[in-house]
Amino acid sequence: MKNILIIALISMIALTGCNQPKPVKTLENLKAGIKGETTASAKYAAFAQKAREEGNVNVAKLFDAASKAESIHAANHRKVLEGLGEKMEDFKPEFEVKTTAENLQAAIDGESYEATTMYPQFLADAKTEKVEKATKSFTWALDTEKKHHDFYSSALKALNATAENTLPAEYVVCPVCGNTYDKAKVDEKCAFCQTSKVKFLSA
Ligand SMILES: [Fe+2]
Ligand SMILES: [Fe+2]
Repeated sequence: MKNILIIALISMIALTGCNQPKPVKTLENLKAGIKGETTASAKYAAFAQKAREEGNVNVAKLFDAASKAESIHAANHRKVLEGLGEKMEDFKPEFEVKTTAENLQAAIDGESYEATTMYPQFLADAKTEKVEKATKSFTWALDTEKKHHDFYSSALKALNATAENTLPAEYVVCPVCGNTYDKAKVDEKCAFCQTSKVKFLSA
């Protein structure tokens, strides 16, 4: 009887120790973020191919760079999710490829949703649930998506004005946070995560 009481007591203490509330919202948001970023990465790679077929090489370069950035965001979110002891279930990215002008508009709409609605909500939840690593990962993605939005908007304008040659010819991507730069206008260190420019990836 005494042994049973001791075991019960030890179990209670152990359970209390593990009784940190689960960051339910943030776990859900990380999964949605991984799905969104992985889908965006695959979608932009397909959009890049389409732009090349249509002879829009500079727009293709932008899609390649953004595709790389989104895969970095997906990997960062996944690392945080797994650090919290959860795994991502398998899924198949689904998207449509249209003309390059339509693809740019779809990209602008997607980035706009992520930057003004999705990530601000994810960030608010991560702060409420005090998940610092998720806060960092969501912030890096949010700040990058704003830049992608602006790059895509300029690209669509240039495409409509048949002035594609005014767009950046090369882009680079920060391997840590996904920040995306016109290669001709990089900072010495990444403005979001301070990684040195020597480590930036060519897209
Ligand atoms: Fe993006
Ligand atoms: Fe960075």
